[in-house]
Amino acid sequence: MPRSLSGRNFLKLLDFTTEEIQYLLELAKDFKRLKRTNTPHKYLTGKNIVLLFEKTSTRTRCSFEVAGNDLGMGVTYLDPASSQMGNKESLEDTAKVLGRMYDGIEYRGFDQNIVENLGRYAGVPVWNGLTTEFHPTQMLADVLTIEENFGRYKGLKMVFMGDARNNVANSLMVVSAKLGINFVACGPKDNMPDEKLVATCREIAKENGCTITLTDDVKEGTKNADVIYTDIWVSMGEAAELWEKRIKLLSPYQVNDEVMANANPEAIFLHCLPSFHDLETSIGREIHEKFGLKEMEVTDKVFRSSQSKVFDEAENRMHTIKAVMYATLK
Ligand code: CP
Ligand code: NVA
Repeated sequence: MPRSLSGRNFLKLLDFTTEEIQYLLELAKDFKRLKRTNTPHKYLTGKNIVLLFEKTSTRTRCSFEVAGNDLGMGVTYLDPASSQMGNKESLEDTAKVLGRMYDGIEYRGFDQNIVENLGRYAGVPVWNGLTTEFHPTQMLADVLTIEENFGRYKGLKMVFMGDARNNVANSLMVVSAKLGINFVACGPKDNMPDEKLVATCREIAKENGCTITLTDDVKEGTKNADVIYTDIWVSMGEAAELWEKRIKLLSPYQVNDEVMANANPEAIFLHCLPSFHDLETSIGREIHEKFGLKEMEVTDKVFRSSQSKVFDEAENRMHTIKAVMYATLK
């Protein structure tokens, strides 16, 4: 049992020990049982939280809202247009004001520095709901989903395919190193995670008996993998002009039948979502018109297959975010 997480920020997983991450996962399992059995758990009645979103969201926003309500808290949502932050008021002043009114602050936006500064000045716990560099709440849901499928996560092989230097890939590498999961970043050589972060993760991985591998070889990278993971090829905040370049660069790393066949027969497919796996989105249709692609980072067939656990993973966002809020606010 780790020391209490009460009063702590949740900004990146590098700030947490293996035991602390495991504790949050155990807590999430408890909360999932309570939710599934309709058992009230308004443990934080009387508290209030604010959600600051500078980028759009479905899962993260709804997870914080539902989890906050389930715990008995008041929840305020602020989108980019409805606060003064950054336009008329500095981040430091905003953080200090919000810290006077709320018991916790969620932030989704751009540089990791922004959320780190919010955490420095707010005086109440700050939770990272995604930055350009990291997406730490996502990882808890991912590992919980892995554990639900395999009964364990330590010693498994997880492969991230595609844009291996984005926020999700970075965070997956960190959580893998912390929890003893063998992590493979499989993508083009010049699209790999930051060298310094790789070196840090390799040090942590050594302590936890696992490996961090970078490869541009799909066959080698995905061989006998237990978890195949991918994400969109152009992330929020990146220029739309990048699509053409990324499609060329990342198409060889699409998750398709061949990739799944090369993995462990019991392998599962994960994706943080949203995903471009068909033509049911406006961006998907635009890309189809311009470049002729019907599906991108994952084929529709794999996305809809029984190996795909993406909707369990999405549900687990809520249970794990609830655990983070409870542990830091109780
Ligand atoms: N996976 C994830 O963070 O989804 P949203 O962008 O919808 O929050
Ligand atoms: N890499 C994606 C993750 C979305 C949840 C992005 O930042 O847009």
